[in-house]
Amino acid sequence: MTTEIIKVPDLGGADEVEVIEVCVAAGDVVAAEDSLLVLETDKASMDIPAPFAGKVLSVMVSEGDTIGEGTVILELEVEGATASAVEPAVQESAPVVDAPAPVEAAAPVAAVESASEQINVPDVGGDKAEVIEICVAVGDTVEEGDSLIVMETDKASMEVPAPKSGVVESIMIKEGDQAGEGDAILMLKVAGAAASTPAPVDMPTPAADAKQKITEPKQVSEAHQPVTGMTENRPTGEVYAGPSVRKMAREVGLDLALVPGSGPRGRIQKDDVKAFIKSAISNKAPKVAAVAGSGIPLVPEVDFSKFGDVTIEKMSKMHKLTAANMHRSWLNVPHVTAFDDVDITDLEEFRKSLKPEAERAGVKVTPLPFLLKACAMALKANPLLNASLHADGENIVYKNYVHIGFAVATPAGLMVPVIRDVDKKSIFELAAETAELAKKAKDRKLKPAEMQGGTFTISSLGSMGGTGFTPIVNVPEVAILGVSKLDVKPRWNGSEFEPRKMLPISLSYDHRAVNGADAGGFMVYLNALLADIRRMALA
Ligand code: COA
Repeated sequence: MTTEIIKVPDLGGADEVEVIEVCVAAGDVVAAEDSLLVLETDKASMDIPAPFAGKVLSVMVSEGDTIGEGTVILELEVEGATASAVEPAVQESAPVVDAPAPVEAAAPVAAVESASEQINVPDVGGDKAEVIEICVAVGDTVEEGDSLIVMETDKASMEVPAPKSGVVESIMIKEGDQAGEGDAILMLKVAGAAASTPAPVDMPTPAADAKQKITEPKQVSEAHQPVTGMTENRPTGEVYAGPSVRKMAREVGLDLALVPGSGPRGRIQKDDVKAFIKSAISNKAPKVAAVAGSGIPLVPEVDFSKFGDVTIEKMSKMHKLTAANMHRSWLNVPHVTAFDDVDITDLEEFRKSLKPEAERAGVKVTPLPFLLKACAMALKANPLLNASLHADGENIVYKNYVHIGFAVATPAGLMVPVIRDVDKKSIFELAAETAELAKKAKDRKLKPAEMQGGTFTISSLGSMGGTGFTPIVNVPEVAILGVSKLDVKPRWNGSEFEPRKMLPISLSYDHRAVNGADAGGFMVYLNALLADIRRMALA
């Protein structure tokens, strides 16, 4: 182990620069090229990377310090081999790192007559660098100094700023390109005086009198050469951050526009990115969610093929839409579900007695038309369940019509056709319409209008089985009735048990709009109608 003193390199002419971010603390282990400091002049900022991997023993500079070439930054404990490769003199004459080069060849394409100028890649201190970000688009107006592209070598990233203000006419470079000095970046239409200047246009000096070239390191091997990434101080679009922060964000797929910057003039610093990620992660921790309510914890991705053979099938559009709707309802609506058993022995007897008549009318009467009719009446008697919460959060919208949707499972996914004005239709009409809409749904012939405008939904799983379930409210409706399988059960009539046909029903409701008493009132009313269908005549 050797202790190396790391000093500020040649800053390309800038005498004194401000430390705006200290990226490491004593005890940190850094890799070669990790940022140690971010320095800033009034025009440019630079990352100072670690020349070697090692452990930070002590940091001698603080945020806000004004420092210059040769100022001791920190002490680094490095592995023997690495340290021995570097003579102590190396640290004495700290690796020379100048600001990135100017965009030299902004040569006017047609001199005075034309305002178009070609902006080229400056000397990037090596052969080629990868273009990792194009910061502008054709038609964009850029200010002098706005970043045009971000380039990255394996050691540093740097932003190439516009040498002058103008409008981007065309872009000749794209992300992923390997570009070197002199390669064309874009054509810039510059305004007035600048456009009429025939001479090649030099890049603006990033630091007032900075020597803008990444020079060869004086005494360190290539591997240990720190390269200074430079970025203009002004924000690039919405984001004001240096190359190392941008790189960090890119690595984790973070949109820097979301991250509040705590640095000078709102500059986003590495600590800001770390804090943002930390907060995003901790917000998803179940402990926090349980106490305060918070974000949705992510379900980790699982490679199921590790455990056995799998078949992957694309979800249909309908399936994806249904999934999104269910998720939206589930997350937005505080659901409560009430359960009941309805004695429909008499209803069933009546329904069966209708069979010949129904056949003559060309319809099949299942329990569903009765459920629709009874729900319509119960909704009219309990209008809160036929309402929606207004988007303004201040009002409830009562609907003076009763349009009831009913869930139909089709091979393409779940569909909910809506029967309009259920309260005004007969049992036979409802039977005919449910059959017609269910067929249309299964044949994928439903029109969008036939699935819109519902005020309440019935989801009947009765023909399939089950003793009860909790349906999900079909937002923006506030209640949904689940119907399970009819079963013959013993029922006490006051003197003996008798077999009765009991239909399990469940009502899920949005507890923001409907309280337990409202839901109870609806259920009792519905139960009474279905248990004694003569009551339907009373309404
Ligand atoms: N308990 C017991 N039997 C029931 C029942 C219940 N709750 N509801 C219906 N049945 C019976 C019917 O009486 C019929 O029997 P029958 O031929 O002896 O008279 C049989 O089950 C089949 O009825 P079905 O054709 O499903 O008619 P329906 O009017 O009850 O349902 C649809 C209409 C649209 C729901 C139906 O066409 C359908 O797609 N059913 C599948 C279930 C479904 O998709 N539900 C939605 C899930 S989210």
